[in-house]
Amino acid sequence: MADLNHLIAEAAQDFAACNDVPALENAKAKFLGKSGALTEALKGLGKLTAEERPAAGAAINVVKQAVEQALNDRRDSILAAAQAKQLASETIDVALPARAQSAGGLHPVTLTLRRVEALFHSIGFSVADGPEIETDFYNFTALNIPDNHPARAMHDTFYVDSGNDSMEHVLRTHTSPVQVHYMENNTPPLKIIAPGRVYRVDSDATHSPMFHQVEGLWVDEQISFANLKGVVQDFLQKFFERDDLTVRFRPSFFPFTEPSAEMDMSWNGGWLEIGGCGMVHPEVLKHVNIDSEKYRGFAFGLGVERLAMLRYGVNDLRHFFNNDLRFLQQFIK
Ligand code: DAH
Repeated sequence: MADLNHLIAEAAQDFAACNDVPALENAKAKFLGKSGALTEALKGLGKLTAEERPAAGAAINVVKQAVEQALNDRRDSILAAAQAKQLASETIDVALPARAQSAGGLHPVTLTLRRVEALFHSIGFSVADGPEIETDFYNFTALNIPDNHPARAMHDTFYVDSGNDSMEHVLRTHTSPVQVHYMENNTPPLKIIAPGRVYRVDSDATHSPMFHQVEGLWVDEQISFANLKGVVQDFLQKFFERDDLTVRFRPSFFPFTEPSAEMDMSWNGGWLEIGGCGMVHPEVLKHVNIDSEKYRGFAFGLGVERLAMLRYGVNDLRHFFNNDLRFLQQFIK
């Protein structure tokens, strides 16, 4: 029987040349496959005599085991190398600095509302709230706005389809209905502001379909236009941090005040309109069972975005609602 020992060195050499497991399995066939050298040798045992067979068989098995050992060793080292390579490519640098926490900030309109609330709070006004979906009654009728008033026309007002009676609910077009809710549920003296969202069918550089107003209401026995002027001027001076700021009133018309006025404030040598105001109309007080012989009050409505635009120097109202981070990030302190 031929000496098979040379197969051990030959297999070791072949296996060493393999760099992945499929190649190794191919190289194995030459020695251990169906017609591999060792398999053939084992088949040849049958031709030997009974005396020769045990020693020859044992010799073949020694070589076979050595080849199998070489195969397993090479397979292990190929797998170990592959794993080491993968680990190296997926290394996590635990010493890298963590990603910075970016702090959020409040929206400029929210900042403005908070400033407005704080300043009015400091002169004794509480903050009242009301629904954004209003009934036609609170938004218009209770405020003495007659049926044929232009503010009820479809082009101004978002009507809410409430099934069988689609004209009954509206998105409130102003914060004035909060006056009515508050007066229904409280007795004078009343001293509130009502900040919040309002809605109108309107959209351009200075109008947005959703915007904010602050309503003001002070009802007591001796309230006059002079108090109104004092409160508004004091507020605006503090809000804009300008002691020389003044307000002026221009006669106007609102169904829920009598007399009514537009309020302007001095700004860069001219005048800027900032809202409407007046003495609460006796009809409005009557709706909420407040004795208009005994009580009088003033009311006003200010545009919040207008205040924010002036304070922050923003020239287009739409910036507030486009959610562009380049704009919003400027307000993070
Ligand atoms: N609600 C009015 C508007 O949106 C503004 C207004 C005017 C409010 C006079 C008032 C007021 O409280 O007295 O146009």
